[in-house]
Amino acid sequence: MTNIIFLGPPGSGKGTQASMVSKELNVPTISTGEVLRKQVEMESEIGKTAKSYMNSGGLVPDAVVVDIIKNRIFEDDCQNGFILDGFPRNMNQAVVLDSMLSSFNKKIDIVFNFEINDEILIKRIAGRYSCKKCGLVYNSYFKLPKKEGICDNCKSTQFENREDDNEHTVKNRLKVYHNSTVELIEYYKKKNLLCSIEAIESVPLVFDRLIEVVQNFSKY
Ligand code: AP5
Repeated sequence: MTNIIFLGPPGSGKGTQASMVSKELNVPTISTGEVLRKQVEMESEIGKTAKSYMNSGGLVPDAVVVDIIKNRIFEDDCQNGFILDGFPRNMNQAVVLDSMLSSFNKKIDIVFNFEINDEILIKRIAGRYSCKKCGLVYNSYFKLPKKEGICDNCKSTQFENREDDNEHTVKNRLKVYHNSTVELIEYYKKKNLLCSIEAIESVPLVFDRLIEVVQNFSKY
């Protein structure tokens, strides 16, 4: 069983790798960003609360995101491990996570820190779009569909951009990352859980490195 956290700035490739690693290891990915976007789309109470924070690039209040994680990580499909993509994002969330896990005799095993510079992130985010039907993520600079305008996975011809992928919001998301999330690097380093990943590398290279680390961890 391997419980994993993907830590990194917006656009560093966490979501892209989470879906690939999830398939390879047969464990679920829990992405707070994805859950929140679905709630916004459904116009639920959570979605209504989250929308303005997300659109401004700020963090949604801890109570809301902790509630999402709280029950999810103890569901049956998480018994063999899970990947947390985008959670925790500040010290309070990290401490709450540790205490939730330890009360069930569980723990985090590896924290992957996706390292990359801000300039590339802005280009990656500016180029990001996804299939409206299946959600597969593309990039106009780095990853186009094999056949122009047709999704590789479900053949849909409809694509969309994320509402928070505009220049103003992206700058704020990066600021929030540097102000609130970066301190988690030290936190997990001290716990000896941190593994740095050169997120500038190509998608397959990053993937190979992640799998190599997880496989080495599982041997012991
Ligand atoms: P969230 O959805 O988590 O967004 P994020 O952290 O800003 O991360 P992104 O999804 O933008 O980037 P990514 O690292 O997944 O990159 P991707 O793989 O898509 O959060 C959104 C919002 O929700 C937050 O701002 C906040 O408001 C709220 N929220 C979420 N969690 C919260 C929490 N815990 N607490 C409070 N609020 C929370 O890749 C990006 C692009 O690059 C893609 O186009 C991809 O194709 C391309 N790409 C990926 N890898 C490579 C590569 N190696 N080479 C070239 N291109 C690549």
